[in-house]
Amino acid sequence: MSETLSLRRPDDWHLHLRDGAALSAVLPHTAQRFARAIVMPNLAPPVTTVAAAKAYRDRILAALPTGLDFQPLMTLYLTDSTPPEEIDRAVESGVVFGAKLYPAGATTNSQSGVTDIRRIDAVLERMAERGLTLQVHGEVTRPEIDVFDREAVFLDTVLAPTVERFPALRVILEHVTTRAGADFVRTARNGVAATITPQHLMMNRNALFQGGLRPHHYCLPVLKTEADRQALIDVVAAGNPRFFLGTDSAPHARHTKEHACGCAGIYSAHAGIELYADVFEQHGFLDRLEEFASGFGADFYGLPRNTARITLRREPWTPPPSYAFGEHELIPYLAGQPINWRLAA
Ligand code: DOR
Ligand code: ZN
Repeated sequence: MSETLSLRRPDDWHLHLRDGAALSAVLPHTAQRFARAIVMPNLAPPVTTVAAAKAYRDRILAALPTGLDFQPLMTLYLTDSTPPEEIDRAVESGVVFGAKLYPAGATTNSQSGVTDIRRIDAVLERMAERGLTLQVHGEVTRPEIDVFDREAVFLDTVLAPTVERFPALRVILEHVTTRAGADFVRTARNGVAATITPQHLMMNRNALFQGGLRPHHYCLPVLKTEADRQALIDVVAAGNPRFFLGTDSAPHARHTKEHACGCAGIYSAHAGIELYADVFEQHGFLDRLEEFASGFGADFYGLPRNTARITLRREPWTPPPSYAFGEHELIPYLAGQPINWRLAA
């Protein structure tokens, strides 16, 4: 067994960086590992304009410790009233690389999201024309739909018709969690892809209730069944280029997760590449890591692959019980549990 692993430097195609003190706390973890990241726009208030995206990008770059080379790739938050001209401005900005569809009410800070996809037809048309990628939180929010079925129902009732109605639209099903989602993306027309998080490769929904209620395993879309997890493992094992790395690292202060109504989100940026190395190796396809982490995503976005490299060493380490998070604490994924691969300095 090899003791070191050299990889083309990876990118994180789905990341939450927050703002202010929280941004400063988490950004170094990502920037140490990843050359670029698609930065989600669900701040409060959300990043709905190119002007706001540029200002947010400036704050990210200002928070970047010197010596770290990192490029934030910005996104716009779509609302019912996003004007198609905002898409033109996004494409022409050179700093915005997609627009995110949050169905209203689906997740953290999605209250201003889209209430009915038909309301943004003109925007989707413009995105298809101009080649701007649609990043999708793929869950319906209707209260009668079981929380574990929300992704599958979204595929049938929203995503499949949208992909057909806009044949040139580039679409990413973010943080795919189900066999239905993996099958949909595998068999969709060209221009459809998905990101996969470490937690959805590593855990099934039993992890939410392992010996008691586990708020630090709660994210959205929620963890699914073992058969769903296996389906994600299978598409990655096959080296399918439509599936690539997106951690969905989503930091929340400890007290807001360990709460009567805890926030959704798992923080994984502290081990954003190492976690994938562990799970890929455990399933016997470590040789698939480099394309998944450092190739397929850049190709899908039409961006050059990175040329720098990183090294992982087989050297078990343990994430600390918590990190500082402004005035608060942040509990990392796998706090206190061993991770086999370690990023070399
Ligand atoms: O678990 C999640 N956390 N899922 C999301 O879609 C949003 C994210 C967040 O922003 O905290
Ligand atoms: Zn997310």
